[in-house]
Amino acid sequence: MKECVIIDGVRSPNVRAHAEKGWLRNVRPDEILTKVYEALFARNPKVKPEDVEAVFCGTANQAGMQNDIARLGWLAGGFPESVATNGICQQCPSGMAATEHAARAIMCGEGDIYIAAGVEDMQHVPMAFAIDFPPRLLNRYNIADIPMGSTAEKVAEMYKIDRKDMDLMAYWSNKKAVEARDSGKFKKEIVPIEGEKEDGTKFMVDVDQWIRGDVSLEKMATLQSPFKPGGVVTAATSSPLTTGAAALLLMSRDKADALGLSYHLKYAGGAMAGNDPTVMGAGPIFAVKKLLERKGLTSKDIGVWELNEAFASQALAVLRTLGVAQNAPFENVNVWGGALALGHPLGESGCRVIVTLNNVMKTDFKDAKYGVATLCGGFGNANASLWEKVK
Ligand SMILES: CC(C)(COP(=O)(O)OP(=O)(O)OC[C@H]1O[C@@H](n2cnc3c(N)ncnc32)[C@H](O)[C@@H]1OP(=O)(O)O)[C@@H](O)C(=O)NCCC(=O)NCCS
Repeated sequence: MKECVIIDGVRSPNVRAHAEKGWLRNVRPDEILTKVYEALFARNPKVKPEDVEAVFCGTANQAGMQNDIARLGWLAGGFPESVATNGICQQCPSGMAATEHAARAIMCGEGDIYIAAGVEDMQHVPMAFAIDFPPRLLNRYNIADIPMGSTAEKVAEMYKIDRKDMDLMAYWSNKKAVEARDSGKFKKEIVPIEGEKEDGTKFMVDVDQWIRGDVSLEKMATLQSPFKPGGVVTAATSSPLTTGAAALLLMSRDKADALGLSYHLKYAGGAMAGNDPTVMGAGPIFAVKKLLERKGLTSKDIGVWELNEAFASQALAVLRTLGVAQNAPFENVNVWGGALALGHPLGESGCRVIVTLNNVMKTDFKDAKYGVATLCGGFGNANASLWEKVK
């Protein structure tokens, strides 16, 4: 089998999905995606769009402006018709599934150069937009247990996650994101895009909008659960509604060497796991276990983790059950902050966590041999992928 390496990864700023306050509120998701693709080609002039074998693009909600955004977005961006595209839907892990599809195609020798992307605009295409649940699904599950916030409450109860520990996780997620932003770490991956401030003033958006510099445990302690009377999951311990896109340039190692391109991570395998949709946040426990067992590794062998923080309850349940960590701040988990601070544009995040993992392993964790990126997914579909330092 061939080896698949990461040549580069970029992303848009993650912005509020809000019709009046979102900094990219008047930019369509296909346009955000196009900016990200353009940046990838501008940063890698040895690769032309027509050299790409295919594009895999993950989106959780493929409706409205996101209907076949993989194809329509590529064509609208002016990219070559000859390049095939494939829209991938696996709810939140969609961008990771897209990356794995591309990596596996490279390893199988089907092509040498692929783009793997993820995009979600939760303002123009809100969660559950146009969804029509199969009636028989509702015979099987209680409809009240299906919404994501309800699943987070159930996970907190099932895994006995304390409210204070969740608040602490949200606090540190923001602190780390502030530190990463202010020290310029995200400049390696964020593509600036013109947007507008809340008052309508135009500006180049080059930072994530949700990160809270003024985060306080005292304020967090006052928040009530919007999901359940007397519940423990709050706005602070939930990933906020967000818009964003990310993309990776993946290549066979042979081709990268032939083009004289540098790389430092290769795809070392992935695993998906299904679980009870009413506790979907626990899914990475099963996906990561499967992945590590297959590779003959344990969680101690993993130098860096990027675990999408859909909710603090599920993230803590995963980290504790896998024996990775107990409480924030974590040394080697979400080193530059997680989705509680950065936001979680559903189909984007699976690709975004790999973009960030690549950068963290290139800079702050140069000696780590392995990194794992993982996400839970709506309706009980988790994914995990393993990335290995190339010698
Ligand atoms: C939880 C949720 C409903 C909150 O939405 P919202 O009420 O519009 O959130 P807001 O940003 O207005 O925050 C509500 C309050 O909490 C406060 N808050 C939020 N995060 C905070 C933090 N980290 N620290 C302190 N306060 C915080 C806000 O300041 C606001 O307070 P205010 O009313 O005094 O201004 C929404 O973010 C959500 O649905 N998230 C989950 C999305 C999801 O399911 N994704 C898929 C995951 S699988």
